[in-house]
This record gives sequence, structure tokens and C-alpha cells, in this order.
Amino acid sequence: MNARPTCTQLRRLALAGGACLALLVGRSPAMAAPLPVDALDMDANETCEGCHARDPEARMTFADGSSLSVYVAPDVLAHSVHQGRFDCVDCHRDTMTWPHEPAPFPSADAWRRAQQDTCRRCHSEHDAAMRDSIHERESAAGNPAAPTCTECHGAHDIASPGASRRAVANLCSRCHEKEAEVFNRSVHAQGLAKGNPDVPVCTDCHGAHAIADTEAPGWHAGSYTICARCHGDGEMMKKYDLSENILKTYLEDFHGSSNHLYLQVGYVPERPVATCGDCHGYHDVASLKTAGSEEALRAKVDAMCRQCHENAPDGFAGAWLAHDEPTIGSAPLVWGVTWGYRILIPVMILGLVLHILLHLWRVPVKGV
Ligand code: HEC
Ligand code: HEC
Ligand code: HEC
Ligand code: HEC
Ligand code: HEC
Ligand code: HEC
Ligand code: HEC
Ligand code: HEC
Ligand code: HEC
Repeated sequence: MNARPTCTQLRRLALAGGACLALLVGRSPAMAAPLPVDALDMDANETCEGCHARDPEARMTFADGSSLSVYVAPDVLAHSVHQGRFDCVDCHRDTMTWPHEPAPFPSADAWRRAQQDTCRRCHSEHDAAMRDSIHERESAAGNPAAPTCTECHGAHDIASPGASRRAVANLCSRCHEKEAEVFNRSVHAQGLAKGNPDVPVCTDCHGAHAIADTEAPGWHAGSYTICARCHGDGEMMKKYDLSENILKTYLEDFHGSSNHLYLQVGYVPERPVATCGDCHGYHDVASLKTAGSEEALRAKVDAMCRQCHENAPDGFAGAWLAHDEPTIGSAPLVWGVTWGYRILIPVMILGLVLHILLHLWRVPVKGV
């Protein structure tokens, strides 16, 4: 840039300065003195900043009495993920005249929500992902607490959102304090505090944009697939000395096989069938290894079952193998019956087919 200001720049600064003086005293510059519009280069960031980066107190008032700060810190765009690639008017296309076109919105909130189209115009993928989300649905229904693109990312000082996993959890926690408090007690959050990159934060389980309503039909039955992403990953689980057969055993079990089938055919059972979260909690996931004694563990497991099998007696889960696969040592009877069937059934089917084939062979063919 030229070190010496040109005539036009000086004139522009003087004009912008005058306008901002009017902003400072709280009056629209258009009312203070008629500005020669064509003298302002409305294409240049400095013109916008000449007014908008002056007074941190400057506000704009809407019909319903709500107001909006119109202060934009100087040089803020340079620190954004966009790295100053875009000018003010790349985003604010309808502010290129002075006085600006009057904003046709009843409230500051309505104005803000309309501005999201700016981000959506370029980020169509994230736009599409968010369309069906619970946040978008709530926003469309007029819930002022529902987040928009800029609520989570900012508009001018956009930070790289995935930079720190703790920051992601903190972002969601701003509005979901209750859930965050519970999550912070979990074995997963303890891992997060130690800098473990494998444990989940909010977005690993819910996503960041396409967040579904957890009460929607079918969501519950499919929720085991969330946990399975990591607990079905043998390599990852080996690192933490955790069972590598969690998903396999769940899917072979009565609950898992039912849920798997329901998910495939899109059927919603009348009574929810147990998924991982029903037994382990989903936000307050704890390790069962800290139960203390064997008895305390059994009481805990019985309590898990009683959430749904109300009249389950003490020791209800005693005969159940949890995630263990039956071995000749741990459960010889189950092991024996399983292998018995594995051998018996193929032998029976083979015999049946042979029986039919032999019959067909003996059938006299007409005319021969
Ligand atoms: C002469 C001073 C001045 C200049 C130059 C100026 N603005 Fe403004 N701007 C204002 C004032 C004053 C308001 C508040 C309007 C009101 O109270 O009605 C405002 C409001 C806004 C708003 C919020 C309401 C709306 O109309 O959407 C945006 C966004 C905005 N300006 C962007 C810009 C951009 C981008 C530029 C540069 C192209 C710019 N402004 C140049 C003074 C200025
Ligand atoms: C990447 C797109 C983008 C760029 C570049 C941009 N803005 Fe904005 N701006 C927005 C969006 C979106 C909003 C709505 C903010 C919200 O939701 O809180 C906004 C809000 C505003 C507001 C209202 C006050 C506020 O902060 O909410 C003003 C004034 C404004 N911008 C002026 C500017 C000026 C001046 C520049 C250039 C220095 C600029 N903007 C650059 C997207 C942008
Ligand atoms: C004029 C087009 C345009 C507009 C408008 C725009 N962006 Fe971007 N944005 C981009 C481009 C291009 C990139 C860089 C993509 C890349 O490097 O892969 C980017 C990058 C980003 C990133 C960082 C991606 C990363 O990998 O870390 C975020 C976050 C982001 N934009 C959010 C927003 C938000 C929020 C808004 C609205 C205030 C917005 N963008 C408006 C074009 C735009
Ligand atoms: C509820 C908060 C939230 C909302 C609302 C939101 N985002 Fe994001 N966004 C995130 C988080 C968190 C990430 C970090 C990546 C991740 O965890 O998946 C992200 C990542 C991004 C990225 C970086 C590229 C990537 O996928 O890593 C872009 C670009 C982006 N969002 C744009 C948008 C746009 C455009 C909107 C509005 C249509 C939007 N976001 C709405 C939270 C949000
Ligand atoms: C600005 C506030 C805000 C932020 C930030 C926010 N949310 Fe939300 N969220 C809401 C509102 C409002 C609702 C709808 C009302 C409700 O169910 O609480 C909602 C709903 C949800 C739901 C559905 C609740 C249900 O009953 O099924 C989930 C899941 C969710 N948000 C997850 C997230 C995640 C993950 C993040 C971070 C990436 C996040 N939210 C960030 C405000 C926010
Ligand atoms: C390990 C996966 C996992 C993590 C991590 C997680 N959630 Fe959830 N979340 C779930 C599941 C599963 C449900 C549905 C529970 C049900 O069926 O009732 C849920 C439900 C919710 C709900 C709906 C209300 C409720 O409590 O049922 C909100 C809101 C929510 N989560 C927000 C968050 C936020 C915010 C974070 C981060 C602090 C987070 N979740 C972290 C799995 C997770
Ligand atoms: C993003 C990967 C990921 C997801 C998703 C995930 N977990 Fe985990 N989980 C881990 C890791 C890694 C550990 C080990 C943490 C450690 O030991 O520090 C763990 C630990 C556990 C433990 C404690 C095991 C023990 O006894 O030490 C349980 C129980 C658990 N998870 C259940 C769940 C459930 C239920 C869900 C779904 C609602 C789930 N996890 C989702 C990665 C994940
Ligand atoms: C019906 C209840 C129930 C369901 C459903 C269930 N679990 Fe478990 N899970 C248990 C019990 C009980 C234990 C403790 C077993 C033991 O220590 O012998 C356990 C142990 C674990 C462990 C610790 C394993 C280890 O090596 O110490 C993890 C991790 C785990 N489950 C994750 C899951 C995941 C992921 C799912 C869903 C795919 C799931 N569980 C479904 C009851 C359940
Ligand atoms: C979230 C609710 C829920 C929890 C928790 C739960 N179950 Fe179930 N369970 C069901 C439902 C529903 C069925 C019926 C399955 C079907 O429709 O195929 C079932 C089926 C069964 C069956 C097969 C026999 C029958 O009644 O159909 C056994 C055995 C069983 N559960 C044992 C347990 C044990 C042991 C625990 C605790 C470790 C437990 N369940 C925890 C909901 C649950």
C-alpha cells in the first residue's frame, strides 16, 4: 500500500470520520448532514471500518425495541479462518449504498437469523447437513435459543472449530449445561481431561450440523451404532485393555439381535429394547470395574435390568454372559449347546437334501 494517503483517501476518511461523529452522538449520519454518496467508496473495507470500527457503543434499534451493536473491531477479518480473503461487501451485499437500505426486519434476532444465508451461500454442504437438524427445526419454529451458524462460529472472528476437542465440548455446553455437567463426570470426560484423543465429545455422538432429535422414532434402536464406532474397533479397544468383542456379543444377544433387525426394517418396537446407553448410561458412562466387590457389581447389573424388566428378582442377570463369549472354561454348558447346534444343524440339512435327492432319483419318469 502507498505510504502517503492520496487525495481521495483523505477525502474518504474525512467523510467517514464525520459520519462516525454522528454515530458517536447516537444519530444516523444521514440525518446529521447529507453525504455526497458517490464520494464514499463503498467497495472498500476501510470505508466500512471508518464508521463501524470507531465506536464500541454504537447500536442499531429495530421496530420491536431490540437493538444490535454495529461495532466491528478493526482488523478482525484478518484473524478469521477466512484470513481476510473476503471483504465486507462479499458478505454484506445489500449495504453498498449510503444510507444503507433500511433493514426490513422486526427484531435484532430476525435480522441475525436472516444473515445466516451469507454463510450458507458458500458452505452449501454444511447448509444441507443442518437443514434437517433439530437446531434448524427449532430455529424455524422461532425458538430464539436455537443456534445459527454464527452463534457457533462467529461471523467476523471465525476460529477453526475443530482445533480443540475440549473447545467443542465447551461450545455445546454453553446451551446444554445440564447434559454437560453429567457428561463431565463420565469415564469419557476423564479421558478427555487427560488429553486422550480417542474418547468421544458431544459431536462424536451427535454430529455438529446434522444433529438429530433423540426422541424421534427409531433413534433409540439405532443408538448402539454410535458406541459401536469405537467399541467395535478392535485396534482402538486393545489400547485400553477393553474387550474387542463388545459389538459382536451385543449383536448375538437377545437385545442386540432385535435392535439390529428393527433398524434394518425400520420398525419401532412398542417397548424399547436395551441398547448400550440403557445399561451403561450415555452421558454418565462409568467403568464397571470400579464397582468394588463382585456382589456390588451384580447388584448394579440387576438394577440395569430392572429399568425394563421391572419384576426381575435378585440375580436375574446371573445366567447372562454380558459381553463374554462362552468358552469351555467360563460357561461349558452354553459352549457345549452352541457347538452342538453348530454341528447338528448342518448335518441335518445335509441329510434332508440327500434324502430328497435320493427320492427324486427313484421317481419313474413317464414314457420311459
Ligand atoms: C457513513 C457511515 C457508515 C458507513 C460508511 C457504513 N456504514 Fe454500515 N451502518 C452505519 C450505521 C449508522 C448503521 C446503523 C443503521 C441504523 O441505525 O439504521 C449501519 C448498519 C450496518 C449494518 C447492519 C444493518 C444493515 O443494514 O444490514 C451492516 C451489516 C453494515 N452497516 C455494514 C456496512 C458495510 C459492509 C459497509 C461498507 C460497505 C458499511 N456498513 C458502511 C454506518 C455506516
Ligand atoms: C464472512 C462473511 C462476513 C464478512 C467478511 C463480514 N461480515 Fe459482517 N456479518 C456477517 C454475518 C453473517 C453477520 C450476522 C452476525 C450474527 O449473526 O451475529 C454480520 C454482522 C455484522 C454487523 C452487525 C453487528 C454484529 O456484529 O452482529 C455489522 C455492523 C457488520 N457485520 C459489518 C461488517 C463490516 C464492516 C465488515 C468488514 C470489515 C464485515 N461485516 C465483514 C458476515 C460477514
Ligand atoms: C464467499 C464465500 C464464503 C462465505 C460467504 C463464507 N465462507 Fe467460510 N469459507 C469459504 C472458503 C473458500 C473457505 C476455505 C475452505 C478451505 O480452505 O478448505 C472457508 C472456510 C471456513 C471455515 C474453516 C474451515 C476449516 O477447515 O477450518 C469455517 C469454520 C467457515 N468458513 C465458516 C463460515 C461462516 C460461519 C460463514 C458465515 C459468517 C462463512 N464461512 C462465510 C468461503 C466462504
Ligand atoms: C451447534 C453449533 C454449530 C452450528 C449451528 C454450525 N456449526 Fe459448523 N461446526 C461446528 C463444529 C463443532 C465444527 C467442528 C467440526 C466437527 O466437530 O465436526 C464445525 C465445522 C464447520 C466447518 C469446518 C469444516 C469442517 O467440517 O470441519 C464449516 C465450514 C462450518 N462448520 C460451517 C457451518 C455453517 C455454514 C453453518 C450454518 C449453516 C454451521 N457451520 C452451523 C459447530 C456448528
Ligand atoms: C445457542 C444454544 C445452543 C448451542 C450452542 C447448542 N445447542 Fe443443541 N439445542 C439448543 C436448543 C434450543 C435445542 C432445542 C430444545 C431442546 O431440546 O433443548 C437443542 C437441541 C439439541 C439436541 C436434541 C435434544 C433432544 O431432545 O433430542 C441435541 C442432541 C443437541 N442440541 C446437541 C447439541 C450439540 C452436540 C451442540 C454442540 C455442537 C449443541 N447442541 C449446541 C440450543 C443449543
Ligand atoms: C458417548 C456418546 C454421547 C456423548 C459424548 C454425548 N451424548 Fe448427548 N446423548 C447421547 C445419547 C445416546 C442420547 C439419547 C439418550 C436417550 O435415548 O434418551 C443423548 C441425548 C442428548 C440430549 C437430549 C436430552 C437428553 O438428555 O436425553 C442432549 C441435549 C444431548 N445429548 C447433548 C449432549 C451434549 C451437549 C454433549 C457434550 C457435553 C453430549 N450430548 C455428549 C450420546 C452422547
Ligand atoms: C469416539 C470413540 C468412542 C465412542 C463413540 C464411545 N466410546 Fe466408550 N470409550 C472410548 C474409549 C477410548 C474408552 C477408554 C477410555 C479410557 O480408558 O481412558 C471408552 C470407555 C468406555 C467405558 C469404560 C470401560 C471400562 O470399564 O474401563 C464404557 C462402559 C464405555 N466406554 C461405553 C460407551 C457407550 C455406552 C458409548 C455410546 C453411548 C460409548 N462408550 C461411545 C471411546 C468411545
Ligand atoms: C443389557 C445390558 C448391557 C448392554 C445392552 C450392553 N452392555 Fe456393555 N456391559 C454390561 C455389563 C453388565 C458389563 C460388565 C461385564 C463384566 O464385567 O463382566 C459390560 C461391560 C462393558 C464394557 C467393559 C468391557 C471390558 O473389557 O471391561 C464396555 C466397554 C461395554 N460394556 C460397552 C458396551 C457397548 C458399546 C454396548 C453396545 C454395543 C454395550 N456395552 C451393551 C451390560 C450391557
Ligand atoms: C431398555 C430396556 C431393557 C433393559 C435395560 C434390559 N432389557 Fe432385556 N429385554 C428388553 C425387551 C424390550 C426385550 C424383548 C426383546 C424383543 O422384543 O425381542 C428384552 C428381552 C430380554 C430377554 C429375552 C427373553 C424375553 O423376555 O424376551 C432376556 C433374557 C433379557 N431381556 C434379559 C435382560 C438382562 C439380563 C438385562 C440386564 C443386564 C436386561 N434384559 C436389560 C428390554 C430391556
